[in-house]
Amino acid sequence: MQTFLRGRDLISDLDFSKEEVETVLDLAWDLKRKRAVGEGHPYLRDRTLGMLFFFSSTRTRCSFEAGMAQLGGHAAFIESRTTQISHGDTAKEIGQILGRYFDGIAIRHCDWQAGNSYLNGVAAASRAPVLNMQCDVYHPFQCLADLMTVMEKKGQDLRRKKIVVSWAYASSYLKPISVPQSLILQMPRFGMDVTLAYPEEFMLMPEIVEEAQNQAEAYGTDFEIVHDMEEGFRDADVVYAKSWGPLLTTADADKGKQLQDRYQDWITDRRKMQLAAPDAIYMHPLPADRDIEVTSEVMDGLQSVVYDQAENRLHVQKAVLALTMW
Ligand code: CP
Repeated sequence: MQTFLRGRDLISDLDFSKEEVETVLDLAWDLKRKRAVGEGHPYLRDRTLGMLFFFSSTRTRCSFEAGMAQLGGHAAFIESRTTQISHGDTAKEIGQILGRYFDGIAIRHCDWQAGNSYLNGVAAASRAPVLNMQCDVYHPFQCLADLMTVMEKKGQDLRRKKIVVSWAYASSYLKPISVPQSLILQMPRFGMDVTLAYPEEFMLMPEIVEEAQNQAEAYGTDFEIVHDMEEGFRDADVVYAKSWGPLLTTADADKGKQLQDRYQDWITDRRKMQLAAPDAIYMHPLPADRDIEVTSEVMDGLQSVVYDQAENRLHVQKAVLALTMW
């Protein structure tokens, strides 16, 4: 078990080794148990987390804020538009200054080709650890919660279990590509066979896919790409189907929406779930476009674990906060 994570950033999913992720999960289960029996765990008394948001959030904001309070510390909610960032505070200023006020800086910045480089700019200047609450490239805390949930439902030995990470149609907006990218990077390290399914125009970043293939090779798992949702779902133990924008094809929102609208049949419904293993689980990080991305029948059905997934955000985040901010 690797235990010395104090002061460490978590920006990319691979910033923590497999053993370090196992430490996070161990602590997350202990914290989940403690919360279940009302046992206090104020590991971060007098510690403060600055949470800087450039993008809206329900789960991430609420779970980080609740988590810091449960650990005996405080989380400050900061919206970028209410700061002086638009008047000249650069990533360096934010890292230098917030790093002196806070014991950790958590940032959500999902703008395409800006978010990840912003987080790294803050981290380079900050004396406090920087935690990625989602950028344009990665969503590591979502992925840790997903991994915890898969292990709770399928057991901790995930070798030869198949996860399909599938694109799905949405009409609301062009969603970031960070969730599928984090999943394909992290899941092979824990033995899962990964099938990535998407219409041709919805490819992920080639360097991320290459790294995911390297991880799969290193851990002896399968990694395949298909362009058919039904083919992807076949015999899957875990169905993880969500929408993302065609950002590698076009950064133009209107053109992206036109492309997206071509694939309205990429919806998760009962018929497609029947192609997966009989005991397959359905996962989605939320928010989902109900009855567009996934039918309510599936989302509210027995195979859906979406609320356990959302809950586990709290436990894995508390584990990382406790390990990095003491
Ligand atoms: N899954 C997730 O990150 O949810 P929010 O966008 O509501 O934070």
